[in-house]
Amino acid sequence: MSLVHEIDYGTPLSKSEKLVNLTIDGMKVQVPEGTSIMRAAMEVGNQIPKLCASDMLEAFGSCRLCLIEIEGRNGTPASCTTPVAEGIVVKTQTERLKQIRKGVMELYISDHPLDCLTCSANGDCELQDMAGVVGLREVRYGYQGENHTKLGKDESNPYFTYEQSKCIVCNRCVRACEEVQGTFALTISGRGFGSRVSAGMSETFLSSECVSCGACVQACPTATLNEKSMIAIGTPEHSVVTTCAYCGVGCTFKAEMRGDELVRMVPYKDGKANRGHSCVKGRFAYGYAAHKERILKPMIRSSIQDPWTEVSWDEAIAYAASEFKRIQEKYGRRSVGGITSSRCTNEETYLVQKLIRGAFGNNNVDTCARVCHSPTGYGLSQTYGTSAGTQDFDSIEDTDTILVIGANPTDGHPVFGSRMKKRLREGAKLIIVDPRKIDLVRTPHVEADYHLPLRPGTNVAVVTALAHVIVTEGLVNETFVRERCEWDEFQEWAAFVAEERHSPEAVEKYTGVDPVKLRAAARLYATGGNAAIYYGLGVTEHSQGSTTVIAIANLAMATGNIGRKGVGVNPLRGQNNVQGACDMGSFPHELSGYRHVSDDATRALFEGVWGVTLDDEPGLRIPNMFDAAVDGTFKGLYVQGEDILQSDPDTRHVSAGLGAMECIVVQDLFLNETANFAHVFLPGCSFLEKDGTFTNAERRIQRIRKVMAPKNGYGDWEITILLSNALGYPMDYAHPSEIMDEIARLTPTFTGVSYQKLNEMGSVQWPCNAAAPEGTPVMHIGGFVRGKGKFMLTEYVPTDERTGPRFPLLLTTGRILSQYNVGAQTRRTENVAWHPEDVLEIHPHDAENRGIRDGDYVKLESRAGGTSLKAKISERMSPGVVYTTFHHPVTQANVVTTDFSDWATNCPEYKVTAVQVAPSNGPSQWQEDYEKRSRESRRIAQAAE
Ligand code: SF4
Ligand code: SF4
Ligand code: SF4
Ligand code: FES
Repeated sequence: MSLVHEIDYGTPLSKSEKLVNLTIDGMKVQVPEGTSIMRAAMEVGNQIPKLCASDMLEAFGSCRLCLIEIEGRNGTPASCTTPVAEGIVVKTQTERLKQIRKGVMELYISDHPLDCLTCSANGDCELQDMAGVVGLREVRYGYQGENHTKLGKDESNPYFTYEQSKCIVCNRCVRACEEVQGTFALTISGRGFGSRVSAGMSETFLSSECVSCGACVQACPTATLNEKSMIAIGTPEHSVVTTCAYCGVGCTFKAEMRGDELVRMVPYKDGKANRGHSCVKGRFAYGYAAHKERILKPMIRSSIQDPWTEVSWDEAIAYAASEFKRIQEKYGRRSVGGITSSRCTNEETYLVQKLIRGAFGNNNVDTCARVCHSPTGYGLSQTYGTSAGTQDFDSIEDTDTILVIGANPTDGHPVFGSRMKKRLREGAKLIIVDPRKIDLVRTPHVEADYHLPLRPGTNVAVVTALAHVIVTEGLVNETFVRERCEWDEFQEWAAFVAEERHSPEAVEKYTGVDPVKLRAAARLYATGGNAAIYYGLGVTEHSQGSTTVIAIANLAMATGNIGRKGVGVNPLRGQNNVQGACDMGSFPHELSGYRHVSDDATRALFEGVWGVTLDDEPGLRIPNMFDAAVDGTFKGLYVQGEDILQSDPDTRHVSAGLGAMECIVVQDLFLNETANFAHVFLPGCSFLEKDGTFTNAERRIQRIRKVMAPKNGYGDWEITILLSNALGYPMDYAHPSEIMDEIARLTPTFTGVSYQKLNEMGSVQWPCNAAAPEGTPVMHIGGFVRGKGKFMLTEYVPTDERTGPRFPLLLTTGRILSQYNVGAQTRRTENVAWHPEDVLEIHPHDAENRGIRDGDYVKLESRAGGTSLKAKISERMSPGVVYTTFHHPVTQANVVTTDFSDWATNCPEYKVTAVQVAPSNGPSQWQEDYEKRSRESRRIAQAAE
């Protein structure tokens, strides 16, 4: 293995279809119009020296190293800023050019510390390389003049340093922060010789607006901005291309290694989801895999009151299998079940559901997608015929109007958020429907055209009111609807939304949205060119989550915004493999490819390959498992990679359910909250230690590759095989690629997927089959998967969760950039520097009414329970609405959320809880219990060390 080096073409690819011919150093070249001469030269392998250029950034032309000569033109223009022209003849290597370049390099080197041998970038420095490329052998100016070599270092960022003395002021970092990340945290302060890169208003990186995405570090050609891991370990010597295991964007990285030590994660430019960019989590927050609290040996105990006992893998697996068998013999076949993980691979998820159906003999399998995007599956399959987003991420480049509903892309899906911001800076229009002023409402060089701050729980009313305007103002794309949709159902829907009770004016009393703005937003969506909808958990996690997804699907069909690039309906999936977990048959009523277990032909197909008889009754959903456990009919659970106690709503009910079971097997990296109720703990494996695939929010199937041996001894897929074998249902796979081959045999949308194809193409978007051998970037082109698009009525039904004198505020929840989900991974990294605890955001007016000051401990109470956390007074909130995250178990935010859920899918209503907030002295009983449990977990980790 060697280091994967991607070519840097110097300037971005031109998208022009017109081709231009020219000659460079005697070679004929044909490139798209708009290509720089530098890039044209690179296309034929001629690398013109450069320092300030990078193909991730627009050309800047400051270093003067890339000069060229063009026959018939005066001077020596910069090749990075000079576009090709028909018939020109270019020379890149003349005596004059050589002398100029040497002179430029002499100036740079005369003001640069001469510590190459001990520099952390030695061997990985473009300045060093260019000195060699131009043949610099002496510096005539000497090193004694005025220089910057004594300037200090900023080491405030936990992951990288800024060593000013090595800066050549090429501006690449500043441009990366602006153009790629869109944060505008860096500037060049001072002038001329005094020019320096500065974070914010001469702040440290940590205290500035910097979000630690690392784009500047990646762009820096010198050691000025450098990963601390590289400074500590040294330069890498081989790399493995893999996929981030955090969010549903699915960024591809080169894991750069020295031996079996991970030196750094470098975003991969060929990654089709991220195009060379990343966020702080994927690039830097991988340290959890080696955290001292990680459990590496299996453990068992006969009662949850007992301490854990470390045992061999054989013993742990045998104990788990015998317990499940005992329970089934005593309480019946359907008394046990399992939960798959959206963090694990497709292959692992597929095996867990196969184990439940094949070895347990029932369909009691569900997934954490239940608690996030199950309404997406329901709503989109009902209306369009398939349970997934319609576009690829590249589609945003063709979008003219972006409608974001209940999503916060800059925090939840940061790399896609950056791509969205870029498109907005290019002029796309923006509508945001969200109770909070999320960053996109106003962020540097981006401002939403309309922000509709609705009351939590009124999505259906707002989206139906948008449809009302579109229908009643004659903005329907009738040609599209007639050709592509069920006409009778459209007419019924149009008559329904046109009713006066759905007008913006009528719904204002409960949505709180200004009708004038709502009307203007509807007009913009319907008439503003290619319009695309992006939505998140702020849509799905409601009692009417499925209805809102349907309402969104209706809106796109009515305006013809579906079935081509630049438009569509795009659920922004939360976890890395939430799409894959759904695709792989993790729901109790569906086998892989969303085929119902009651369908005889589907069952027969699986029975033939799996060699078992399958249950034709749908199994229990997660909340029903807890209900059944409390009722005494559900007694055993296998949970892979999921902390249901922390992530599911109404913690007290979940605890009661877990506490009533006789055998819980938890397979995870850490002793999570659910493990407090477990009898068997099987140590899980991090994404760095196993092979497999993830499927991201654009249906893109991507490889994850093993970069080091499993620290626990087994990949998660191997552990499931061990358990299945011990249960008497043999599984025999030598490698995850064989599992994928079986998935492809059994799943119509995956028949063309294989590891060989993924290795060749990098990634592929399902459906990938005989009809689409290279996958499907955009769905529903020319026709919906279900045939004709189906409009459905979307009656607004207020949630049963109501505010009143006792609980007058509405709590809504979300996530922040630096933390991920329940925080099990990110809390065990330096990311805590940005978010050490969950806080309650509260509007100044609501805070003042309650005598709450910024930073005060407050008690947050609902009908379900209470917790305490610190208050953050914030004008992002509307009066009457409070907000928190659930990244830290000590907060136990889900003690407060209720058991209300989506009518169609049981997705919990996390986004609407009636609460009261009052000053408090400190943590609640729950939090004290948690502290006790954490101490036990730390004791075990220390004992293991
Ligand atoms: S790390 Fe990202 S946000 Fe911070 S300065 Fe660099 S590019 Fe900007
Ligand atoms: S910090 Fe690096 S990228 Fe930024 S101006 Fe200096 S040398 Fe260039
Ligand atoms: S967390 Fe998401 S956006 Fe960040 S690097 Fe990973 S996949 Fe990309
Ligand atoms: S690379 Fe062209 S001027 Fe710097």
